[in-house]
Amino acid sequence: MSRKSHPLDPLFHPKSVVIVGASKTPGKIGHALLTNVLKYGFKGPVYPVNPKYEEIEDLKCYPTVLDIPGEIDLVVVAIPAENVPKVIGEIGAKGGKVAVVISSGFKEVGRDDLEKELLEYGRRYGVRILGPNIFGVAYTPKRLNATFGPTEVREGSIAFITQSGALGIALMGWTIVEKIGLSALISVGNKSDIDDADLLEWLKDDPHTKVVLVYMEGVKDGRKFLKVAREVSKKKPIVVIKAGRTARGMKAVSSHTGSLAGMDSVYSAAFEQAGILRADNVEEAFDWAVLFSTGKVPLGEETVIITNGGGVGVLATDACEVNRIKLLDPPEDLREAFSSYMPPFGSARNPVDITGQATHVEFEGAVESAIKHDSVKNIIVLYCQTAVSDPIKLAEVLVEQNRSTEKPMVASFIGGEEVAEAMEIMREREFPAYPTPERAVKALAAMLRWGRRRKLLDRV
Ligand code: ACO
Repeated sequence: MSRKSHPLDPLFHPKSVVIVGASKTPGKIGHALLTNVLKYGFKGPVYPVNPKYEEIEDLKCYPTVLDIPGEIDLVVVAIPAENVPKVIGEIGAKGGKVAVVISSGFKEVGRDDLEKELLEYGRRYGVRILGPNIFGVAYTPKRLNATFGPTEVREGSIAFITQSGALGIALMGWTIVEKIGLSALISVGNKSDIDDADLLEWLKDDPHTKVVLVYMEGVKDGRKFLKVAREVSKKKPIVVIKAGRTARGMKAVSSHTGSLAGMDSVYSAAFEQAGILRADNVEEAFDWAVLFSTGKVPLGEETVIITNGGGVGVLATDACEVNRIKLLDPPEDLREAFSSYMPPFGSARNPVDITGQATHVEFEGAVESAIKHDSVKNIIVLYCQTAVSDPIKLAEVLVEQNRSTEKPMVASFIGGEEVAEAMEIMREREFPAYPTPERAVKALAAMLRWGRRRKLLDRV
């Protein structure tokens, strides 16, 4: 079934992209925006607008939006703030639907009047506004990179909405290094018009997005945000990093984006009720999102730990207890199955210790036993590098096993260079692998929390 049309469709699925303030000068924002759109491979027409040029990057350049011959829908605006409202009027007159306003110089510097004028033009001419004071928008399924960040954006299923531009741009590069795939990356800046709630509403029905991650400093309309978040959380998880937890942090927020950070405990309680998962920091948020991006949903609580290292097994057991993950007492038939993949001095109880002499073959057998047994709902695999095992072969086995089952699986690999390579293989093939047992456990705990909250939301 195709989805109904939505006012924000042109932001993600534009028929064409217009760049007002497109520049010939490398190093300028208007140049980076144009070259990113072209190099990342947007398929539709691209129209640069700048009265100074006849052409830029072999494309005909237009003096104003009104001179563009074709239809327009998405317009990126990167000109000095004073002139933006008037250009919004021209965009509306030409039939443009959404303006991505990169320009700074509005509310965040005390120019509330200019931001109000911008919004009035938008309302009067029927143009929705993203920003101002943003680095742009990217949507990988449509090969759209209308940002002045790095050109490459790794494709995947995490949508990231960020109120901090610099953090968003920095994370674009970081996600590539970490092999984390994004469906969308949206800079919201001052949120003069389009806000988190509007974006969540669109992303709820986006088949390419499996989890939404939000960095926020403040919410414009809390009631609307929570109402939408509640609906989205029933379908896909929302992970929020809410900055401004401390008194000083709140002050920093107000001078950064002009938002009111609000009482931290109020946010936490409201998030919980709406099914939102609150992460403490960027690392945690992306750890969780990597597991959610597998698209798996919790099937139950009972979890087994399978390891070749007693110590990491104990650490993970503690972490499971602290994070409310229920460890299964394996029934006898399952213990027997586990025992066939370990020497007599191993342990078939949970944590299942297949011992330091295990190779990828024993891991495969033990994990397969857990996958096949109905009593097991989640699997944690912990590997410590030994000279008798090959982490790369194990990574390949786990990737396949993870694909073969609906049960959530996470892993932690600890070791040297080959382990780093194995981690890369797993991340590249969307198997959630982490450098420490605690991070793997916390990611699974977040998924189980979402499962519990989702059940409660369904009952309301
Ligand atoms: N129509 C079309 N083109 C125009 C118009 C107009 N009305 N007005 C100006 N232009 C052209 C100019 O001719 C110029 O072209 P050129 O580069 O070929 O000379 C181009 O648009 C840009 O105009 P400039 O006056 O040169 O302005 P400049 O590039 O210095 O700055 C910008 C524009 C980038 C929008 C700036 O005002 C600004 O807001 N910068 C901050 C952006 C930002 O940081 N946003 C937040 C991001 S998030 C983060 O923190 C990373």
